[in-house]
Amino acid sequence: MTTVIRVDPEAPDPAALAPAAECLRRGGLVAFPTETVYGLGAHALDSAAVRRLFAAKGRPANDPLIVHVDDIDRMQALVRDVPDAARQLAARFWPGPLTLVLRRSEQVPDDVTAGLNTVAVRVPAHPVARALLIAAGVPVAAPSANLFSRPSPTRASHVMDDLAGRIDFVVDGGATQVGVESTVLDLSGEVPTILRPGAVSIDMLREILPRVERRSVDAPSSGAMKSPGLLERHYSPRAPLTVYDGRDSVARLVRDACSFIASGQRLGIMAADEDRDALSIVERHGPLATIVSLGSERDHVTVASRLYAAIRELDSSGVDRILVRDFPGSDGLAVAVRDRLRRASVR
Ligand code: TXA
Ligand code: MG
Repeated sequence: MTTVIRVDPEAPDPAALAPAAECLRRGGLVAFPTETVYGLGAHALDSAAVRRLFAAKGRPANDPLIVHVDDIDRMQALVRDVPDAARQLAARFWPGPLTLVLRRSEQVPDDVTAGLNTVAVRVPAHPVARALLIAAGVPVAAPSANLFSRPSPTRASHVMDDLAGRIDFVVDGGATQVGVESTVLDLSGEVPTILRPGAVSIDMLREILPRVERRSVDAPSSGAMKSPGLLERHYSPRAPLTVYDGRDSVARLVRDACSFIASGQRLGIMAADEDRDALSIVERHGPLATIVSLGSERDHVTVASRLYAAIRELDSSGVDRILVRDFPGSDGLAVAVRDRLRRASVR
């Protein structure tokens, strides 16, 4: 049985959160909203709880977890040392959608880090996540609260769709704001390296650490996996997903859509508000095409916040294919959205 606790996202009632906090302390599993996506929390220093978490998600044990804490002082016990770079980044970006990978302390169980000698840590900004972490009083390991290989949940209903009956509580704080997972920055090596793009962009990080680099996408995938969760294929909708980018992307999408429909296929299309006119010819085919707008092509905040809900909606409506137009731009969210779409399209 999974109990849903509904709270005010801005000012959660501590009394309402108390049973969920107590459950975390005792080794139970609690899903909760963060500003990025919903996380599935377990007591990070309790190996048995962490193993239950992997089992509930169906997540392979070689994919390490992010540990969530309520402030930087609580991080000290988890890491060997807090380098200056981490302090500066924390002062600027925490609480917020940035995860730091640091060399870990002995206290962190191997189950959390998948045996790596580093640990990923973040201080989330969502008032509900913060209140829950404070009430629990323990560090909380929390991957996204989806079944393995499903898109991350941005609403409590997504969590219930995937995990009802497999976890103890879902704290429902409404839709999350950012919509894509945190930027993961590895500070454990010579060069600070972005392992996963998110709302905190490379330019924002370089204002503080000029040497930050992107993980090279073409790096050979042999040897020990630096971050197994960054596997090329990560989110895989049941229906094949194709991204149209570059020149005339919308026109090419419309042309393909028309020929797929002509052959009797049911399509899901993720578009921008600006595509209305171009898509009207597809719309006239009626029920064979479901069109979802992610927002204006210039409004990356809205696009990111709707992305995963749209993929879930189209996939559960049973379409044969999903076609997506690209969202150009170099800000953190545009880069993150492209990254997630590219992975969703790899089969
Ligand atoms: O926004 C987020 O980060 C959300 C919310 C719930 O906080 N969490 C999240 O967790 O996206 P998850 O488990 O779905 O993704 C964690 C990512 C994975 O790609 C994992 O491989 C990487 O962080 N990671 C965790 N520990 C690591 C480590 N020690 N070294 C390198 N990568 C690590
Ligand atoms: Mg995930």
